[in-house]
Amino acid sequence: MNLTLKIWRQKDANDKGRLVEYKVTDISEHMSFLEMMDVLNEQLINKGDEPVAFDHDCREGICGMCSMYINGEAHGPDKGVTTCQLHMRMFKDGDTIYIEPFRANAFPVVKDLVVDRSSFDRIQQAGGYISVNTSGNTQDANATPISKIAADQAMDAATCIGCGACVATCKNSSAMLFVSAKVSQYALLPQGQVEATDRVLNMVAQMDAEGFGNCTNTGACEVECPKGISLENIARMNREYMKASSQG
Ligand code: SF4
Ligand code: FES
Repeated sequence: MNLTLKIWRQKDANDKGRLVEYKVTDISEHMSFLEMMDVLNEQLINKGDEPVAFDHDCREGICGMCSMYINGEAHGPDKGVTTCQLHMRMFKDGDTIYIEPFRANAFPVVKDLVVDRSSFDRIQQAGGYISVNTSGNTQDANATPISKIAADQAMDAATCIGCGACVATCKNSSAMLFVSAKVSQYALLPQGQVEATDRVLNMVAQMDAEGFGNCTNTGACEVECPKGISLENIARMNREYMKASSQG
């Protein structure tokens, strides 16, 4: 298929940026969206032009790097997939596709489609971990009984890949779905209880310090999340936060 692409080009954080039109031809419907972008970049490099900068790594829906809006939707028109898993069969010959970076104050544009999501790393560093005794007397994880329900819910929360689509989709640029998934995956397990109070207070404080907006329960994040992270995690994080605040 032949397509017209309108892509956000921005030299660096200080550049104002603009949409630039490109044409790509002979795109197979079996290609992934990023493979289509590779075709464009090869074309640009062959002409001596600067290729479009975009983030990617695993190209199999695991790393959460491939952030971009495609026709105004984070990760594009398909449901439950990241941009790297999106296939060109979702588009029609002759389509015009708008491709832009995620827009949120806490995700400043670095170049073209690349945004700085290190704010997520700093939230993780504020409490998204457990401390384990590695002295050689470490207890076998299987020695701690965990109910099937708790294990399943913790695993579901742990599937968050930190892609930022929830933030990009939310009209408030709220990071509550991401942070609540990270809080929940530990709150549901006995290993997470030791640092539970500090974890939720510190992660929420860091989330606020990074400039993410507040949650107003629109639920847009859950709809666009490629990993199906549930809003129930936000409710759980709010309960954890209330509990921790009363203990502090
Ligand atoms: S909650 Fe979903 S949309 Fe948000 S960062 Fe995690 S995987 Fe991405
Ligand atoms: S490149 Fe890793 S999730 Fe898309």
